[in-house]
Amino acid sequence: MYEDKPLFQPIKIGNRTAHNRFVVNAMECGDADKEGNPTDLTLARYEKHFKNGCSVIDLEAITVSDESRGRLNQLQIQPRNAKALTNFVRKVKEINKDVIFVWQLTHSGELSHPDFSRRVCVKPLPGFGGDLLSEEEVEAIEDKFVLAAKISHDAGADGVDFKNCHGYLGSQLVRPYNDRKWKYGGSFANRTRFTFNVYERMVKEINDPDFIYGSKVSIWEGFPGGQGSAGPDSPVMDISESLALIKGMEDRGANFIMESAGSPSITLALSQPDRSIPVDIYHHFTFQKACRDVLKPETVVIGSAYSVLNNGNNNLQARKKEENTLFYWGNKNISDGVTDMIAIGRQSLADSSLPNKFKEGKEDEIKWCTACDNCIEFLIRQEHVACATYNKSFAKRLLEIRKSEGELKEKRT
Ligand SMILES: Cc1cc2nc3c(=O)[nH]c(=O)nc-3n(C[C@H](O)[C@H](O)[C@H](O)COP(=O)(O)O)c2cc1C
Repeated sequence: MYEDKPLFQPIKIGNRTAHNRFVVNAMECGDADKEGNPTDLTLARYEKHFKNGCSVIDLEAITVSDESRGRLNQLQIQPRNAKALTNFVRKVKEINKDVIFVWQLTHSGELSHPDFSRRVCVKPLPGFGGDLLSEEEVEAIEDKFVLAAKISHDAGADGVDFKNCHGYLGSQLVRPYNDRKWKYGGSFANRTRFTFNVYERMVKEINDPDFIYGSKVSIWEGFPGGQGSAGPDSPVMDISESLALIKGMEDRGANFIMESAGSPSITLALSQPDRSIPVDIYHHFTFQKACRDVLKPETVVIGSAYSVLNNGNNNLQARKKEENTLFYWGNKNISDGVTDMIAIGRQSLADSSLPNKFKEGKEDEIKWCTACDNCIEFLIRQEHVACATYNKSFAKRLLEIRKSEGELKEKRT
């Protein structure tokens, strides 16, 4: 009976109750309008998620200014977006008011796209670079995050996810690579100044005990000097600082930590394990357990990267297929105290209705993610994103793009 399974037990997050352990992970799909407002396409994606039974939905990376966009059609959160965002929340909440809707606030920093944004950096990283940020500029970005949190609250969101993962500005500041001599670099206290300042200020400013605070964190980015490495030039894993970072956020009011790893522009297979290196999922389990062990019992750990597990077609060796699935590992990890909840990213594009189909005994009808990563290809190409495996028009679009790119290359050579 599904009712007995750990994945279907309720859990408290702050003063709210999530009715099961399924979370829709933050998934940018590049379909906002020119001002960064949600469009009908954005609404249709979230309407689907709100119907599908997951108890928490993390709104994709929503950026705090025009100049901090990584994607041309990225969602934005500035005062000019407040009205459109309020309408958006109202519409999705009409579908299911019990879903906990948190918004992932971000600034792209060195991942801001130079064609339409301003690429800025903390310390130039080979292959990235950008204008070196001044202390005053980082202070101004802190203000923008606090304002964005306030706009989220007033628009009707249930909480915020402060993005400290995947190589975006939050990551860039905290990683050991940031050994620049400035107020925001060098010592751990300096590198966490931005995150902790924003945390303290937003909790104080919002002053609502029912609002939820969290953060998605890359516990290990997987390159020298990245988050979770032993020093500015060290590839050796040492996650003690990542754990101190999440403890610091917990001390300042965080109710949940979403575990992640990697930096997709550098270590894609680590942040989203695919079938060629599925064992990266075990790094995630290890990081989830490390988070669970260090945080207070009431702070909820959400584990990422479960999509590759699907229904057991994942190339993981030395396991029975039936004991190698997303449902199996989700239930087991919750029972074993590895994580409290599980998030689905790519699986949510393929089919986010896992809880409903499971409940209704329609497991066989789940469209399982194949971890082919065509979805991220759309994102990298600045296209609207969808699952090309289950969506014929997107499959066709992808073929057209690849073909026209091939023809362009031929012309050039
Ligand atoms: C198309 C696409 C968009 C994504 N957008 C975001 C995002 O907005 N914020 C974020 O933190 N992670 C983003 N991710 C990463 C996912 O949330 C997730 O961490 C990763 O895919 C691993 O989980 P999975 O195995 O369930 O897919 C994105 C990934 C993909 C493929």
